[in-house]
Amino acid sequence: MPKITKVPQGSLTRTALNGSSLMSDHRNEKLQQKKELEQETRKKTLLDDPNYRSQADFKNKQLALTAWERSRNRETIEYGKRSSLPIKVQRESLPAFKMRQQVIDAVSDNQFLVIIGETGSGKTTQITQYLDEEGFSNSGLIGCTQPRRVAAVSVAKRVSEEIGCRVGEYVGYTIRFEDETSPKTRIKYMTDGMLQREALLDPEMKNYSVVILDEAHERTVATDVLFALLKKAASRRPDLRVIVTSATLDAEKFSNYFLQCPILRIPGKTFPVDVMYAQVPQIDYIESALDTVMEIHINEGCGDILVFLTGQEEIDTCCEVLYERVKTLGDTIQELLILPVYSALPSEVQSKIFEPTPPNCRKVIFATNIAETSITIDGIYYVVDPGFSKVNTYNPRAGMEQLIVSPISQAQANQRKGRAGRTGAGKCYRLYTESAYLNEMIPNTIPEIQRQNLSYTILMLKAMGIHDLLNFEFMDAPPRNSMTSALEDLYNLQALDEDGRLTKTGRLMSQFPMEPALSKVLMESANTGCSDEISTIISMLSVQNVFYRPRDKQQEADSKKARFHHPYGDHLTLLNVYTRWRDENYSKTFCLNNYLHERHLKRAKDVKTQLINIFNKLRLPLSSCRGNVDLIRKTLVSGFFRNAGKRDSQVGYKTITDGTSVSVHPSSALFGKDHDYVIYHSLVLTTREYMSQVTAIDARWLVESAPHFYKVAGAESESRKKAKVVPLHNKFSQNQDSWRLSSIRQTKEKA
Ligand code: CDP
Ligand code: MG
Repeated sequence: MPKITKVPQGSLTRTALNGSSLMSDHRNEKLQQKKELEQETRKKTLLDDPNYRSQADFKNKQLALTAWERSRNRETIEYGKRSSLPIKVQRESLPAFKMRQQVIDAVSDNQFLVIIGETGSGKTTQITQYLDEEGFSNSGLIGCTQPRRVAAVSVAKRVSEEIGCRVGEYVGYTIRFEDETSPKTRIKYMTDGMLQREALLDPEMKNYSVVILDEAHERTVATDVLFALLKKAASRRPDLRVIVTSATLDAEKFSNYFLQCPILRIPGKTFPVDVMYAQVPQIDYIESALDTVMEIHINEGCGDILVFLTGQEEIDTCCEVLYERVKTLGDTIQELLILPVYSALPSEVQSKIFEPTPPNCRKVIFATNIAETSITIDGIYYVVDPGFSKVNTYNPRAGMEQLIVSPISQAQANQRKGRAGRTGAGKCYRLYTESAYLNEMIPNTIPEIQRQNLSYTILMLKAMGIHDLLNFEFMDAPPRNSMTSALEDLYNLQALDEDGRLTKTGRLMSQFPMEPALSKVLMESANTGCSDEISTIISMLSVQNVFYRPRDKQQEADSKKARFHHPYGDHLTLLNVYTRWRDENYSKTFCLNNYLHERHLKRAKDVKTQLINIFNKLRLPLSSCRGNVDLIRKTLVSGFFRNAGKRDSQVGYKTITDGTSVSVHPSSALFGKDHDYVIYHSLVLTTREYMSQVTAIDARWLVESAPHFYKVAGAESESRKKAKVVPLHNKFSQNQDSWRLSSIRQTKEKA
C-alpha cells in the first residue's frame, strides 16, 4: 500500500504550470498545436493497440495481464537478492572493494586525494570503514560530510548495521540540532554545515585524522567553504588527510584546487541506458510523468521505476494520483508499490525504499534530486526525468532565499539517466525534447555559492577571524555584489559595524546555527527579557509545520487550529501551541486531539533544549516576560524589520522596502484580518506572493528597532498614530557605494 498523505487542493496543476512554464516559455503556439495533434494520434494508436487501453478506459483485464506476462518473460531479473546476502558478501561485491588497497595507499601517501566513482560504488559507506580498519581512526575521527541531512542519517545507520553497532556508538552522525555521537565514535557522518560550524571552534580540525568531503559535485555553500578551510587546516597539520569524492567528472578541477593531488577512479559496473526524448515540449510534466509510469508498468519488463520530481508536495500528489489510478484498474495489472522519497520523510518510511521489491510486484519511487547521488536504490531499470529540480536561489528583491523550480543541467540529466543502468541495461525517459537538452540546459549546475545569500556564511567566516573575503580561497568566488549585499544584511542586523568588523552582537549571533535574522532576534530577546518565549517561537519556526490537516477532516482540523490562533498572528500562535502542549505534559493525546504532528513538536522541544544550551554556554540570561505580547512582537521586529508589509486597500499588503504586492497566506492566523503593519518570516510564491508566518506590529517599532533602515515620514505634520514609515533607501543608497567599498577595503586591510 502506498503512503498517502494530504495534498493541498489544486497543487497538482499549480506546480505543474509553474514548472513547465519555465521551459516552455519560448515555445510558440505551433509547437503547442503540434503537441495536441500528436497527443490525439498517440491516444488513437494506444486505443488501437490491443495490449493497451488508456487508463480511464482500461476494461479488458485479460489483455492487460497478457501484456504484463509477455513483458515479464522477456527479461528475467532477480532483484532484491543482494540485500539478503550476508553483509560481508554485500560489502565485497561493491566496486570500491577492488580498490581498497589503492585507496589506503593513496591516503597514506597523500594529504589530498580525489575519488571519483559511480553512485552506488561504495564511496560513502565503504571508504570510512577501510580507513578505520587500517587504523586511521586511532589518531582522530574519520569524518565524512554529506550535503543532505537525510543522507547523513541513512548512511550512518547503514554503516552501523554493517559494523554491527548501534548508531551513536562506534558510528555516529551529527546534523543540525541532533548529535548522535559519543566518546566511542570513530566514524562520524555529518552534514557539511555541521563541520563548517565545528571549524568555528577548531579551525585546524584537531578532532579528525581524515575528513571526507563527500558528494563534492553538489557544490553546496558549506562544502565550498570547507574546501578552503580544510586546505588551510591541512597546511598547518601535515597529518591531516582530506578526501574529496564526487560522482561526476569534475575531478580535474578538484585536483587542481588541492595542489594537483592524485585522482582515484573506482571503475563502476554500469550498463547501457537507452534514452528516450519527448517529441514535443510537455505542458504538464506531472501528467506526462504519471502517463509514462503507467506505460512502463503496463508495457515494459520487470524492474523498478524512479521518477524525479521537484519537491514534497509534488511527490505526495503524484503518489496519491497514481494510487487512485492503479486502484481503479484493480487487479487487471500487476501490483505497483508506490513510494515517496524526500528529505522530510520520517526515517521509517524512508527505509522502505531500500527494502527489496516483493516478488510479482513493481516498485515506483517518486523522489527529489536526493536520489540523483545521495542515496542509491537498487533494482531501478527505468528512470523518468521531467527535467526540473527545485533550486535554492537568492531573490535580492525579496531579500531572501526561495526555492524555485528550474530546469536541471546536462550533468544532472546524465546523472539521473545513470540511475537506470546500475543493475542491468535500463531506459531513461526524458520528458523534454532532445533540442531542449542540447540547447537549453546548461552543461553544469551552478555552485550554490554563486546564487545564494551568503549572510550566514560570511558571519561565520568573520567569526573565524577571516576578514579578507576577497582573497579567501574560494574554488569559485561568489559574485562581488552578493558578498556586498550579505555584508549589508549583516550591517543592518548590527552584526557588523560600518567598517565591516564583527560587533559583539555579531559574535554572539555566530554561535547559533541559523539564519542571522533569527539569531539576531534571539540576541535581542536576551536584552529585552523574553528569551524563554522567543526561543520557543524560534524552535517552532525551525521545524516543519506542526499543524496536521487530514483530507477527510480538514474542517475539524482547521477549527482545532483556530483555537490556538492568537489575534496578533502566527508567531504567538506557535507559542500558544507549544505552551499548551508543555502544560499538558507533552502529551501524545493532546497532539492527536488537536491535529498536531507530535514528531515535529518533539523536534521543536529538542531544538529549544539546544538553544537553551547555547544561551547557557554564552552566559546569556533566560527569562520569561510572562505574556507581554508587545515585548515579544517588538523583539521579533529586531530581526525581521526588513520583512515588513503595510496594508494597501487595493492589493492587500505591500512590502515596505520595495512595494511588492503580497497577501497573507490563507493558513495564517491573520488571514482576513486587517492590521496596518505586519512582519513576516518568509515569502512563498505559489499562484501569488504570500507572506507566511505573519505577525501584526506597531509601525513605530520598525523605526525604533532599525533607525538605520527606516524613518518616519511626515512625522511633524501628522499625528503620531498616522505617521508613515518609509525605508531610508535614499539616504542609504547615497552612502551605499562608498560604504560597500570601504567595508570591502576594510575587510581586506584587516586580513
Ligand atoms: O557513495 P556511493 O554512491 O558510491 O555508494 P554507497 O552510498 O556507499 O552505497 C553502496 C551500497 O550500499 C549501495 O549499493 C546500497 O545498496 C547500499 N546502501 C544501503 O543499503 N543503505 C544506505 N543507506 C546506503 C547504501
Ligand atoms: Mg555516496
